[in-house]
Amino acid sequence: TPDLLFSRLEGLEDQELPARPKPTKVTVVGVGNVGMACAQTILTQNLVDEIALVDVQAEKLRGEMLDLQHAAAFLPRVKIVADTDYSVTAHSDICIITECAWQREGEDRMSLVERNFALFKNIIPELVKYSPHTMLLVITNPVDILSWVSWKLSGLPPNRVIGSGTNLDTSRFRTLLGNHFNVSVHNVHATIVGEHGDSSVPLWSGVTVGGVPLAAFAKEHGIATDPEVFTKAHKYVVDGAYEVIKLKGYTSWAIGYSAAALVSSVLRNQRRVHPVSVLAQGFHGIDMEVFLSLPSMLGRSGVIAVANSVLLEHEAAMLRKSAQAIWSIQSKLQF
Ligand code: 2OP
Repeated sequence: TPDLLFSRLEGLEDQELPARPKPTKVTVVGVGNVGMACAQTILTQNLVDEIALVDVQAEKLRGEMLDLQHAAAFLPRVKIVADTDYSVTAHSDICIITECAWQREGEDRMSLVERNFALFKNIIPELVKYSPHTMLLVITNPVDILSWVSWKLSGLPPNRVIGSGTNLDTSRFRTLLGNHFNVSVHNVHATIVGEHGDSSVPLWSGVTVGGVPLAAFAKEHGIATDPEVFTKAHKYVVDGAYEVIKLKGYTSWAIGYSAAALVSSVLRNQRRVHPVSVLAQGFHGIDMEVFLSLPSMLGRSGVIAVANSVLLEHEAAMLRKSAQAIWSIQSKLQF
């Protein structure tokens, strides 16, 4: 027994451990490729004390749990638990929802909405029942609609519900620019806002590379900034996801790292600004109750604030158009 193997120091037999803060805990719902990429990334980055996995497929779930547990000798000490019953998720600081109907090759994110809405009706109430103060991080597509759905179903305040949104599109965009200029992506500041996916809005006027504002630089040097070049670059970002899905069947690693970055900003109270899907009503002339990605400062309380970005009129108009399109779909959902 453990008591035989180890002995307390003399005089400390009855030592009470000092009160400790609650262990940090993240739940991942859905142990498909995306869910496991999130769990694995969070685990290796040592962001939490406990990870709970939930899925309806009991065998796959147990297999994934055991496989991660078997890596314990190579990892920080993290408790990994899994169950089909949501009680295993109790006291989570963040619940990440990746459970989804399969996105088939060529299928756009919107057509998934009805199928995933039905899943969320079961998932979200269970999560908040066991973790009433949790934060929800929605990854399932269409992420903006399902973030709103999650907010509605959860009864949580809006600063506690986010969607992974264009945090990933922004990484794709910065990667493209970094490769183009052969400079570290960390020296490329660029943001994509709006709907995750096809109608996302790249904020070209704000792009800086090594601190140099790209648009202003091009103007000063008489370099033509043909709108077609911008359109092509954005198309490359949008098509990036479809290309990966076509090639390997799904996307997983980049979204996993994106989720881990968001978890880190929240649990470590980093006050970093990420473009994530938030309640966008009241920003940039959006008057509907929709979630869209806007640059948001994240910390322990969740969304601390949203940046008052200066958008060009056509950029704001694109956001409002997305808002309209999203609203026309989500307003048909029956709760
Ligand atoms: C992605 O952008 C498919 O939404 C997923 O990788």
